[in-house]
Amino acid sequence: MAARENRQMKNQDLKKFRDSSFRVKSNCAISVLTAKLEIANAELALVLGRDVLVHVNGRVKSIDSILAKCGKKGYEPTYESALEKINDIIGVRAVCSFEDDVYRMAQVLYTHQDLKILKRKDYIKAPKSSGYRSLHLIVEIPVYFQGKMEWVRAELQLRTPAMDFWAGVDHQLRYKKGKQEAILIGEELKQYSQVVAELDQKMMELRKRIDAI
Ligand code: GTP
Ligand code: MG
Repeated sequence: MAARENRQMKNQDLKKFRDSSFRVKSNCAISVLTAKLEIANAELALVLGRDVLVHVNGRVKSIDSILAKCGKKGYEPTYESALEKINDIIGVRAVCSFEDDVYRMAQVLYTHQDLKILKRKDYIKAPKSSGYRSLHLIVEIPVYFQGKMEWVRAELQLRTPAMDFWAGVDHQLRYKKGKQEAILIGEELKQYSQVVAELDQKMMELRKRIDAI
């Protein structure tokens, strides 16, 4: 399947994705975003007296996944079209302690002049039909590489540990789509998304009470 899909992308485009400068530049963008999140955490920790950021990780989408997405969304399977249309070729996930910390983190990033926020999708205020919750920001950051500055786009997912736990289980279900049992599990999982939302609220309330002691 993967090999067949690969054949749908012309060799010249595959070469651009495999090119080490594309890989290195993408990893540089992950480093820049990670540094920004860590700096925002340090700034918030000065005020709050605790860490907001639990952990950060980033990844560059594989060529097979880029091709699959081009196919799914009807985009031309070329390097240029993929880079223009797919927002999450570079993805960074930041797990933040509490739900209000997710918004605090986003708020600090809005003050960074060398970070453009192109789109904000708040799946915490309005969860997806699956029950998925997270705050997504489509951003562009300047990356200096090989003597040039380039604005590189990335998808930043901000969520709590509970949201991350839920999304991880839901992600495992994605590979079993279509099977009857998977549909039932999906419905049950959706109900647990509500439980996770309540847990996030409760933990925030307890933290506020602890702060007040
Ligand atoms: P894709 O969903 O990536 O095709 O693009 P989109 O433009 O529809 O963006 P969307 O905001 O819906 O999703 C972007 C990313 O969020 C996905 O690649 C996943 O990482 C994550 N995501 C979205 N929906 C779900 C969901 O129902 N479950 C899980 N586990 N993750 C989700
Ligand atoms: Mg989607």
